[in-house]
Amino acid sequence: MSKILEIRDLKAAAKRRVPKMFFDYADSGAWTEGTYRANEEDFSKIRLRQRVLVDMTNRSLESTMIGQKVSMPLALSPTGLTGMQHADGEMLAAQAAEEFGVPFTLSTMSICSIEDVASVTTKPFWFQLYVMRDRDFVKNLIDRAKAAKCSALVLTLDLQILGQRHKDLRNGLSAPPKFTPKHIWQMATRPLWCMQMLQTKRRSFGNIVGHAKNVSDLSSLSVWTAEQFDPRLSWENVAEIKEMWGGPLILKGILDVEDAKMAARTGADAIIVSNHGGRQLDGAPSSISMLPKIVDAVGDTIEVHMDGGIRSGQDVLKAIALGAKGTYIGRPFLYGLGAGGKAGVTLALNIIRKELDITMALCGKRDIKDINRDVIAE
Ligand code: GLV
Repeated sequence: MSKILEIRDLKAAAKRRVPKMFFDYADSGAWTEGTYRANEEDFSKIRLRQRVLVDMTNRSLESTMIGQKVSMPLALSPTGLTGMQHADGEMLAAQAAEEFGVPFTLSTMSICSIEDVASVTTKPFWFQLYVMRDRDFVKNLIDRAKAAKCSALVLTLDLQILGQRHKDLRNGLSAPPKFTPKHIWQMATRPLWCMQMLQTKRRSFGNIVGHAKNVSDLSSLSVWTAEQFDPRLSWENVAEIKEMWGGPLILKGILDVEDAKMAARTGADAIIVSNHGGRQLDGAPSSISMLPKIVDAVGDTIEVHMDGGIRSGQDVLKAIALGAKGTYIGRPFLYGLGAGGKAGVTLALNIIRKELDITMALCGKRDIKDINRDVIAE
Protein backbone atom coordinates (compact mmCIF):
# COMPACT_ATOMS: atom_id res chain seq x y z
CA MET A 1 0.00 0.00 0.00
CA SER A 2 3.07 2.27 -0.08
CA LYS A 3 2.07 3.69 -3.49
CA ILE A 4 -1.25 4.85 -2.14
CA LEU A 5 -1.21 8.63 -1.79
CA GLU A 6 -4.81 9.68 -2.26
CA ILE A 7 -8.33 8.30 -1.93
CA ARG A 8 -8.43 7.67 -5.68
CA ASP A 9 -5.58 5.15 -5.26
CA LEU A 10 -7.57 3.33 -2.59
CA LYS A 11 -10.56 3.22 -4.92
CA ALA A 12 -8.46 1.59 -7.66
CA ALA A 13 -7.05 -0.91 -5.16
CA ALA A 14 -10.51 -1.76 -3.83
CA LYS A 15 -11.75 -2.35 -7.36
CA ARG A 16 -9.06 -4.99 -7.82
CA ARG A 17 -9.88 -6.73 -4.56
CA VAL A 18 -13.66 -6.59 -4.07
CA PRO A 19 -16.14 -8.57 -6.21
CA LYS A 20 -17.76 -6.32 -8.79
CA MET A 21 -21.29 -6.34 -7.38
CA PHE A 22 -20.11 -5.02 -3.98
CA PHE A 23 -17.59 -2.55 -5.36
CA ASP A 24 -20.34 -1.24 -7.66
CA TYR A 25 -22.85 -1.08 -4.81
CA ALA A 26 -20.62 1.41 -2.99
CA ASP A 27 -19.69 3.27 -6.13
CA SER A 28 -23.14 3.76 -7.61
CA GLY A 29 -25.54 6.68 -7.62
CA ALA A 30 -29.17 6.76 -8.66
CA TRP A 31 -30.16 6.76 -12.36
CA THR A 32 -27.77 8.98 -14.37
CA GLU A 33 -25.51 9.43 -11.31
CA GLY A 34 -25.60 13.18 -12.02
CA THR A 35 -26.02 14.14 -8.36
CA TYR A 36 -23.35 11.66 -7.32
CA ARG A 37 -20.92 13.39 -9.72
CA ALA A 38 -22.09 16.89 -8.75
CA ASN A 39 -21.21 16.18 -5.10
CA GLU A 40 -17.56 15.83 -6.09
CA GLU A 41 -17.50 18.35 -8.96
CA ASP A 42 -18.94 21.19 -6.89
CA PHE A 43 -16.22 20.73 -4.27
CA SER A 44 -13.57 21.04 -6.97
CA LYS A 45 -15.03 24.39 -8.13
CA ILE A 46 -14.44 26.02 -4.73
CA ARG A 47 -11.15 27.92 -4.53
CA LEU A 48 -9.13 28.57 -1.39
CA ARG A 49 -7.32 31.75 -0.34
CA GLN A 50 -3.55 31.29 -0.27
CA ARG A 51 -1.99 33.24 2.61
CA VAL A 52 1.71 33.66 3.36
CA LEU A 53 4.08 34.53 6.20
CA VAL A 54 1.84 33.43 9.02
CA ASP A 55 3.15 31.26 11.81
CA MET A 56 2.28 27.68 10.86
CA THR A 57 3.51 25.89 13.98
CA ASN A 58 1.36 24.06 16.54
CA ARG A 59 -1.57 23.26 14.33
CA SER A 60 -4.70 21.57 15.69
CA LEU A 61 -7.47 19.70 13.92
CA GLU A 62 -9.26 18.76 17.11
CA SER A 63 -12.88 19.75 17.38
CA THR A 64 -16.25 18.49 18.60
CA MET A 65 -19.29 17.02 16.89
CA ILE A 66 -22.50 17.17 19.00
CA GLY A 67 -20.27 17.99 21.95
CA GLN A 68 -18.15 14.84 21.53
CA LYS A 69 -14.42 15.27 21.05
CA VAL A 70 -13.09 14.34 17.59
CA SER A 71 -9.45 14.30 16.45
CA MET A 72 -10.66 15.97 13.24
CA PRO A 73 -14.19 17.07 12.34
CA LEU A 74 -15.10 13.95 10.42
CA ALA A 75 -17.08 10.79 11.09
CA LEU A 76 -17.56 7.56 9.17
CA SER A 77 -20.97 7.56 7.48
CA PRO A 78 -23.39 4.73 7.91
CA THR A 79 -23.04 2.56 4.80
CA GLY A 80 -25.02 -0.55 3.97
CA LEU A 81 -23.31 -3.93 3.37
CA THR A 82 -19.96 -2.70 4.67
CA GLY A 83 -19.11 -6.24 5.70
CA MET A 84 -19.25 -7.22 2.03
CA GLN A 85 -16.38 -4.89 1.10
CA HIS A 86 -14.21 -6.93 3.45
CA ALA A 87 -15.01 -9.76 5.87
CA ASP A 88 -16.15 -8.32 9.24
CA GLY A 89 -15.91 -4.86 7.65
CA GLU A 90 -17.98 -2.92 10.17
CA MET A 91 -15.96 -4.30 13.09
CA LEU A 92 -12.67 -3.37 11.42
CA ALA A 93 -13.80 0.10 10.38
CA ALA A 94 -15.17 0.80 13.87
CA GLN A 95 -11.83 -0.18 15.40
CA ALA A 96 -9.91 2.01 12.95
CA ALA A 97 -12.21 4.98 13.70
CA GLU A 98 -11.90 4.46 17.44
CA GLU A 99 -8.10 4.39 17.30
CA PHE A 100 -8.10 7.50 15.11
CA GLY A 101 -10.47 9.37 17.40
CA VAL A 102 -13.43 9.91 15.06
CA PRO A 103 -16.98 8.54 15.32
CA PHE A 104 -18.01 5.39 13.49
CA THR A 105 -21.67 5.13 12.50
CA LEU A 106 -23.11 1.64 12.13
CA SER A 107 -25.86 1.30 9.51
CA THR A 108 -29.10 -0.56 10.21
CA MET A 109 -28.30 -2.41 6.95
CA SER A 110 -24.89 -3.57 8.14
CA ILE A 111 -23.53 -7.08 7.93
CA CYS A 112 -21.96 -7.11 11.41
CA SER A 113 -24.53 -6.47 14.13
CA ILE A 114 -24.67 -3.79 16.81
CA GLU A 115 -23.49 -6.43 19.29
CA ASP A 116 -20.61 -7.53 17.02
CA VAL A 117 -19.30 -3.96 16.78
CA ALA A 118 -19.75 -3.38 20.52
CA SER A 119 -17.75 -6.55 21.23
CA VAL A 120 -14.61 -5.24 19.48
CA THR A 121 -14.72 -1.56 20.50
CA THR A 122 -14.15 0.15 23.82
CA LYS A 123 -15.64 3.57 23.13
CA PRO A 124 -19.21 4.32 22.07
CA PHE A 125 -20.04 4.33 18.37
CA TRP A 126 -23.08 5.89 16.66
CA PHE A 127 -26.03 3.92 15.30
CA GLN A 128 -27.99 4.83 12.17
CA LEU A 129 -31.67 3.97 12.13
CA TYR A 130 -33.99 3.23 9.25
CA VAL A 131 -37.61 3.27 10.29
CA MET A 132 -39.44 0.07 9.41
CA ARG A 133 -43.21 -0.42 9.37
CA ASP A 134 -42.75 -2.94 12.19
CA ARG A 135 -42.46 -0.52 15.11
CA ASP A 136 -41.68 -3.32 17.58
CA PHE A 137 -38.60 -4.07 15.52
CA VAL A 138 -37.63 -0.36 15.51
CA LYS A 139 -38.07 -0.21 19.29
CA ASN A 140 -35.96 -3.34 19.59
CA LEU A 141 -33.17 -1.80 17.44
CA ILE A 142 -33.20 1.32 19.59
CA ASP A 143 -33.03 -0.78 22.75
CA ARG A 144 -30.11 -2.74 21.32
CA ALA A 145 -28.29 0.50 20.45
CA LYS A 146 -28.87 1.71 24.01
CA ALA A 147 -27.62 -1.56 25.45
CA ALA A 148 -24.48 -1.23 23.30
CA LYS A 149 -24.04 2.30 24.76
CA CYS A 150 -24.17 4.01 21.36
CA SER A 151 -23.60 7.72 21.95
CA ALA A 152 -25.78 9.08 19.13
CA LEU A 153 -28.65 7.94 16.97
CA VAL A 154 -28.45 9.02 13.32
CA LEU A 155 -31.95 8.94 11.89
CA THR A 156 -32.00 8.76 8.09
CA LEU A 157 -34.85 10.74 6.55
CA ASP A 158 -34.16 10.45 2.82
CA LEU A 159 -34.73 6.76 2.20
CA GLN A 160 -38.36 5.94 2.78
CA ILE A 161 -38.27 4.30 -0.62
CA LEU A 162 -35.09 3.27 -2.43
CA GLY A 163 -33.70 5.24 -5.37
CA GLN A 164 -32.90 3.11 -8.40
CA ARG A 165 -29.23 2.29 -8.92
CA HIS A 166 -28.87 0.62 -12.28
CA LYS A 167 -25.64 -1.15 -11.43
CA ASP A 168 -27.23 -3.07 -8.53
CA LEU A 169 -30.04 -4.31 -10.76
CA ARG A 170 -27.67 -5.28 -13.55
CA ASN A 171 -25.34 -7.03 -11.12
CA GLY A 172 -28.15 -8.88 -9.30
CA LEU A 173 -26.81 -7.58 -6.00
CA SER A 174 -27.62 -9.66 -2.93
CA ALA A 175 -26.10 -10.48 0.44
CA PRO A 176 -24.97 -13.17 0.73
CA PRO A 177 -24.25 -13.44 -3.00
CA LYS A 178 -26.23 -15.92 -5.07
CA PHE A 179 -24.39 -18.77 -6.71
CA THR A 180 -25.09 -18.08 -10.38
CA PRO A 181 -22.19 -18.48 -12.85
CA LYS A 182 -21.84 -14.68 -13.07
CA HIS A 183 -21.55 -14.28 -9.30
CA ILE A 184 -19.27 -17.26 -8.90
CA TRP A 185 -17.00 -15.71 -11.53
CA GLN A 186 -17.01 -12.32 -9.77
CA MET A 187 -15.93 -13.98 -6.56
CA ALA A 188 -13.49 -16.48 -8.05
CA THR A 189 -11.50 -13.60 -9.51
CA ARG A 190 -11.14 -12.11 -5.99
CA PRO A 191 -9.54 -15.04 -4.10
CA LEU A 192 -8.28 -13.11 -1.07
CA TRP A 193 -11.72 -11.61 -0.49
CA CYS A 194 -13.24 -15.12 -0.74
CA MET A 195 -10.75 -16.65 1.68
CA GLN A 196 -11.39 -13.98 4.29
CA MET A 197 -15.14 -14.19 3.74
CA LEU A 198 -15.08 -17.95 4.28
CA GLN A 199 -13.45 -17.39 7.66
CA THR A 200 -16.32 -15.31 9.02
CA LYS A 201 -19.92 -16.26 9.82
CA ARG A 202 -21.06 -12.71 9.10
CA ARG A 203 -22.41 -12.71 5.56
CA SER A 204 -25.97 -11.47 5.92
CA PHE A 205 -27.73 -8.48 7.53
CA GLY A 206 -26.64 -8.92 11.14
CA ASN A 207 -29.04 -6.41 12.71
CA ILE A 208 -32.03 -8.02 11.09
CA VAL A 209 -31.59 -11.76 10.68
CA GLY A 210 -32.97 -13.44 13.78
CA HIS A 211 -34.50 -10.18 15.05
CA ALA A 212 -37.19 -9.10 12.54
CA LYS A 213 -40.44 -11.00 12.00
CA ASN A 214 -41.94 -11.79 8.59
CA VAL A 215 -38.79 -11.23 6.62
CA SER A 216 -39.44 -12.87 3.29
CA ASP A 217 -36.55 -11.78 1.08
CA LEU A 218 -33.76 -10.13 2.95
CA SER A 219 -31.03 -10.83 0.46
CA SER A 220 -32.25 -8.18 -1.95
CA LEU A 221 -32.00 -4.72 -0.46
CA SER A 222 -34.48 -3.30 -2.98
CA VAL A 223 -37.18 -5.88 -2.29
CA TRP A 224 -36.64 -5.65 1.43
CA THR A 225 -36.79 -1.84 1.50
CA ALA A 226 -40.01 -1.86 -0.50
CA GLU A 227 -41.53 -4.40 1.90
CA GLN A 228 -40.27 -3.16 5.23
CA PHE A 229 -39.33 0.55 5.20
CA ASP A 230 -42.06 2.98 6.22
CA PRO A 231 -43.03 5.24 3.30
CA ARG A 232 -45.30 7.26 5.63
CA LEU A 233 -42.50 8.42 7.94
CA SER A 234 -43.41 11.90 9.22
CA TRP A 235 -42.14 14.70 11.48
CA GLU A 236 -44.43 13.29 14.23
CA ASN A 237 -42.57 9.99 13.94
CA VAL A 238 -39.27 11.84 14.32
CA ALA A 239 -40.56 13.25 17.62
CA GLU A 240 -41.61 9.74 18.73
CA ILE A 241 -38.22 8.30 17.89
CA LYS A 242 -36.47 11.14 19.67
CA GLU A 243 -38.53 10.33 22.74
CA MET A 244 -37.93 6.58 22.45
CA TRP A 245 -34.16 7.08 22.11
CA GLY A 246 -33.76 9.83 24.68
CA GLY A 247 -30.12 10.58 23.72
CA PRO A 248 -28.20 12.66 21.18
CA LEU A 249 -30.05 12.64 17.86
CA ILE A 250 -28.74 13.52 14.39
CA LEU A 251 -31.13 13.90 11.44
CA LYS A 252 -29.55 12.77 8.18
CA GLY A 253 -30.71 13.61 4.68
CA ILE A 254 -31.69 17.28 4.82
CA LEU A 255 -31.10 19.10 1.52
CA ASP A 256 -33.73 21.81 1.56
CA VAL A 257 -33.95 25.02 3.59
CA GLU A 258 -37.62 24.44 4.52
CA ASP A 259 -36.84 20.91 5.73
CA ALA A 260 -33.84 22.22 7.66
CA LYS A 261 -36.10 24.67 9.50
CA MET A 262 -38.49 21.87 10.42
CA ALA A 263 -35.60 19.65 11.49
CA ALA A 264 -34.24 22.43 13.72
CA ARG A 265 -37.63 22.65 15.44
CA THR A 266 -37.52 18.98 16.47
CA GLY A 267 -34.85 19.72 19.07
CA ALA A 268 -32.41 17.27 17.47
CA ASP A 269 -28.73 17.86 18.17
CA ALA A 270 -27.57 18.11 14.55
CA ILE A 271 -28.65 17.74 10.95
CA ILE A 272 -26.62 16.25 8.13
CA VAL A 273 -26.93 18.10 4.84
CA SER A 274 -26.98 15.10 2.53
CA ASN A 275 -28.44 13.63 -0.64
CA HIS A 276 -27.42 10.12 0.39
CA GLY A 277 -24.28 10.25 -1.72
CA GLY A 278 -26.35 10.87 -4.87
CA ARG A 279 -28.02 7.48 -4.35
CA GLN A 280 -31.61 8.68 -3.89
CA LEU A 281 -32.97 11.69 -5.85
CA ASP A 282 -30.84 11.97 -8.97
CA GLY A 283 -31.13 15.59 -10.15
CA ALA A 284 -30.96 17.01 -6.61
CA PRO A 285 -28.28 19.65 -5.98
CA SER A 286 -24.93 18.71 -4.49
CA SER A 287 -24.64 18.74 -0.70
CA ILE A 288 -21.85 21.34 -0.70
CA SER A 289 -23.92 23.74 -2.84
CA MET A 290 -26.79 23.57 -0.33
CA LEU A 291 -24.64 23.73 2.81
CA PRO A 292 -24.17 27.55 3.03
CA LYS A 293 -27.89 28.20 2.43
CA ILE A 294 -28.87 25.76 5.16
CA VAL A 295 -26.23 27.12 7.54
CA ASP A 296 -27.54 30.66 6.94
CA ALA A 297 -31.10 29.51 7.67
CA VAL A 298 -30.60 27.34 10.78
CA GLY A 299 -26.92 27.41 11.71
CA ASP A 300 -27.50 29.44 14.86
CA THR A 301 -30.14 27.03 16.20
CA ILE A 302 -28.77 23.59 15.34
CA GLU A 303 -25.36 22.06 14.56
CA VAL A 304 -25.01 21.49 10.82
CA HIS A 305 -22.99 18.58 9.42
CA MET A 306 -22.60 17.50 5.81
CA ASP A 307 -21.75 14.48 3.69
CA GLY A 308 -21.48 13.76 -0.02
CA GLY A 309 -18.49 14.19 -2.29
CA ILE A 310 -15.69 14.42 0.28
CA ARG A 311 -12.66 12.79 -1.28
CA SER A 312 -9.86 14.73 0.39
CA GLY A 313 -8.86 16.79 3.38
CA GLN A 314 -9.27 19.86 1.16
CA ASP A 315 -12.96 19.00 0.81
CA VAL A 316 -13.27 18.72 4.59
CA LEU A 317 -11.74 22.19 4.98
CA LYS A 318 -14.10 23.65 2.37
CA ALA A 319 -17.14 22.17 4.13
CA ILE A 320 -15.98 23.47 7.52
CA ALA A 321 -15.31 26.89 5.95
CA LEU A 322 -18.85 26.96 4.59
CA GLY A 323 -20.27 26.37 8.05
CA ALA A 324 -20.30 22.62 8.70
CA LYS A 325 -19.33 21.67 12.24
CA GLY A 326 -18.64 18.12 11.09
CA THR A 327 -18.29 16.10 7.91
CA TYR A 328 -18.72 12.43 6.98
CA ILE A 329 -17.05 10.04 4.57
CA GLY A 330 -18.72 6.95 3.14
CA ARG A 331 -17.04 5.76 -0.04
CA PRO A 332 -13.50 6.88 0.93
CA PHE A 333 -13.45 4.60 3.98
CA LEU A 334 -15.17 1.78 2.07
CA TYR A 335 -12.43 1.94 -0.56
CA GLY A 336 -9.84 1.77 2.21
CA LEU A 337 -11.64 -1.18 3.76
CA GLY A 338 -11.95 -3.02 0.46
CA ALA A 339 -8.32 -2.34 -0.38
CA GLY A 340 -6.78 -3.31 2.94
CA GLY A 341 -9.20 -3.99 5.79
CA LYS A 342 -8.65 -2.05 9.00
CA ALA A 343 -5.24 -0.75 7.85
CA GLY A 344 -6.90 0.56 4.69
CA VAL A 345 -9.48 2.53 6.70
CA THR A 346 -6.70 3.96 8.86
CA LEU A 347 -4.83 4.90 5.70
CA ALA A 348 -7.90 6.68 4.28
CA LEU A 349 -8.20 8.67 7.52
CA ASN A 350 -4.48 9.48 7.55
CA ILE A 351 -4.57 10.67 3.93
CA ILE A 352 -7.47 13.00 4.71
CA ARG A 353 -5.88 14.26 7.92
CA LYS A 354 -2.62 15.11 6.17
CA GLU A 355 -4.38 16.92 3.32
CA LEU A 356 -6.55 18.82 5.78
CA ASP A 357 -3.60 19.83 7.92
CA ILE A 358 -1.41 21.06 5.04
CA THR A 359 -4.30 22.86 3.37
CA MET A 360 -5.22 24.63 6.60
CA ALA A 361 -1.63 25.78 7.07
CA LEU A 362 -1.31 27.04 3.50
CA CYS A 363 -4.51 29.02 4.03
CA GLY A 364 -2.72 30.68 6.94
CA LYS A 365 -4.66 29.02 9.76
CA ARG A 366 -3.49 26.90 12.67
CA ASP A 367 -6.68 25.78 14.35
CA ILE A 368 -9.59 24.09 12.62
CA LYS A 369 -11.89 25.86 15.09
CA ASP A 370 -10.88 29.20 13.49
CA ILE A 371 -11.86 28.17 9.98
CA ASN A 372 -14.68 30.19 8.44
CA ARG A 373 -15.69 31.61 5.05
CA ASP A 374 -12.57 33.76 5.18
CA VAL A 375 -10.52 30.95 3.67
CA ILE A 376 -12.69 30.74 0.56
CA ALA A 377 -11.45 32.80 -2.40
CA GLU A 378 -14.14 34.94 -4.00
C1 GLV B 1 -28.45 2.34 1.71
O1 GLV B 1 -28.40 3.16 2.59
C2 GLV B 1 -28.03 2.60 0.39
O2 GLV B 1 -27.88 3.77 0.03
O3 GLV B 1 -27.82 1.63 -0.34
